[in-house]
Amino acid sequence: MASNLTPLTSRLTLLRKPSIRFSTKAVQNLQFIPKLSRPLTPFLHRTTDFVSVHYSSCRKARAINASSQDEELVVLGIETSCDDTAAAVVRSNGEILSQVVSSQADLLVRYGGVAPKMAEEAHSLVIDQVVQEALDKAKLTEEDLSAVAVTIGPGLSLCLRVGVRKARKLAGAYALPIIGVHHMEAHALVARLFQSDLQFPFMAFLISGGHNLLVLARDLGHYIQLGTTIDDAIGEAYDKTAKWLGLDMRKSGGPAVEELAREGSHETAQRLQFLLCSDAAIHVAEASEEDRKARADIAASFQRVAVLHLEEKCERAIEWAMEIEPSVKHLVVSGGVASNQYVRSRLNKIIEKKGLQLVCPPPSLCTDNGAMIAWAGIEHFRMGRYDPPPPACEPEDAVLDLRPRWPLGEELAQGRSEARSMKTARIHPSLTSLIQASMQQQQQQP
Ligand code: KG4
Ligand code: ZN
Repeated sequence: MASNLTPLTSRLTLLRKPSIRFSTKAVQNLQFIPKLSRPLTPFLHRTTDFVSVHYSSCRKARAINASSQDEELVVLGIETSCDDTAAAVVRSNGEILSQVVSSQADLLVRYGGVAPKMAEEAHSLVIDQVVQEALDKAKLTEEDLSAVAVTIGPGLSLCLRVGVRKARKLAGAYALPIIGVHHMEAHALVARLFQSDLQFPFMAFLISGGHNLLVLARDLGHYIQLGTTIDDAIGEAYDKTAKWLGLDMRKSGGPAVEELAREGSHETAQRLQFLLCSDAAIHVAEASEEDRKARADIAASFQRVAVLHLEEKCERAIEWAMEIEPSVKHLVVSGGVASNQYVRSRLNKIIEKKGLQLVCPPPSLCTDNGAMIAWAGIEHFRMGRYDPPPPACEPEDAVLDLRPRWPLGEELAQGRSEARSMKTARIHPSLTSLIQASMQQQQQQP
């Protein structure tokens, strides 16, 4: 767990005293004023105890939220956990001022998937430009920002590092508070950006390239995992199917399978036999009419079976969630695969049958984007969960708080999988357990 478990100045730090060498600098740097038209300053006070500042700001921020001063927050969100380099500027009233995504389509085509080292290089090449473009499109400069939010996990650590470095550099240079965001929580919370009256508790089914995650969101930062990924996530299964079928991977595999599946039927199982005899290495654009039809049938059959699996799990999870929180009314479906129309309509049937309402953000907010990171940052910032600005000149080799394997919540016993439990080594404590521990510690303080 070594370096990943030694947070530098994480918003979730549980240690009473900072434990590593840069912490002294972090303490020296404590006197900062989040940039708001009506500043938070009255609630922050200088102290030599970093953690207590963190907690005291946590308590006071609730008061700020209540008086709705947070409308004036403007947050930059940065996302580099996988293969998209994304940045966006979002206001706390829900207005998305800009959104920029640079995808690594060429690399996906070349390597047939995400190659971490290549992805890291690609992020490094474009990160400055993506962030600058997000600011330019929002017609703002760094000086206008209230805070910077950045994905710190889960994801590929090489890739996370690029975004976190950029965020810390920018936050350090402009004395901005920084918020470390859980990527999957951001996929869920973005539903509250899209639908502002969506209240806790709600359920979320997060389906992406790395996860199939069913959670009960009881409150901000408080999640119960009802079910999670054991093997390949659904998005990865779509991508592999696309590759196998010789489809155009430039928009990632999922959309290509969805598109081709519309031409096919899932009731022709014998097609599989046919395809296995044919040469799937030939690109679909060059395939004969018969071959294309066969591939379309396979695409439709794959989609049918894969989504059936999601439907079954979703139905069971709703039953469990309703036992815990009978007041749940909404089920959020988000993550890249949630932009698939077939997936949406099939899940909607289950959700309606169970008496819930589907909330599904538009595709641009379902696939990885900076707006969801900025929004999750805003939600936590309002609760006072943020770090002070990093040092203005942080050394290049600073130990960063990256959490490549970071569960969102604690697993419900019924949903726990033996297969998954075997793979729990090197996992970071869950977001929920960290926040709950910090709240308990806060309550115990005089
Ligand atoms: O959430 P996301 O953008 O990144 C991760 O956090 O993984 O999800 C990316 C995944 C990819 O596997 C991609 O193929 C899949 O979402 N995806 C789709 C569709 N659009 C994106 N899968 C099925 N149908 C789609 N229309
Ligand atoms: Zn994602």
